[in-house]
Amino acid sequence: MALTDRIGMDENTMNNNRESSELDRLVDNIMVAIDADEYAIYSKDVIAEFRSPANIGPIDEADGNGVADGLCMDTMEIWIKVEKDRITRCTFYTDGCGATIACGSRLTKMIIGKTIDEAEKLRAEELEHSLGGLPEDHKHCANLAIIAFRNAIRDRREKMARNEEDRD
Ligand code: FES
Repeated sequence: MALTDRIGMDENTMNNNRESSELDRLVDNIMVAIDADEYAIYSKDVIAEFRSPANIGPIDEADGNGVADGLCMDTMEIWIKVEKDRITRCTFYTDGCGATIACGSRLTKMIIGKTIDEAEKLRAEELEHSLGGLPEDHKHCANLAIIAFRNAIRDRREKMARNEEDRD
């Protein structure tokens, strides 16, 4: 008895399996090519961060919310939650490129736990440096994250000022 009969595999199943393993190989080759392209452009930290970003999506009843629009037409939005002047949560969302996703994700990680005053000092160059650098045509992505974050801080301060006024 043929082996295929013994294991209950007919010609169609074999052909399907062969086709799917060829497809798997093709997909693997494409992924290797994409990886090579990405690594030629971005640092490994940028790739790791945009492939597995943290702190995505809005915070309900955020204490501060900021948006920034880039000349590239991409947008970054940041939400913060603050307790006793310390940032306890920070999230982001962007419709931008992979570098922007990496910048948003890394920024949230860098500023959670800091006071507003400490976090406000974070500069685009530091954010970029923490990611191992950005290509020349993606340096503005770090700026976009910083501007959105500073707008979130401004929103927080304006809310606090309004609350103070309401109390007076
Ligand atoms: Fe527009 Fe990255 S933010 S290309």
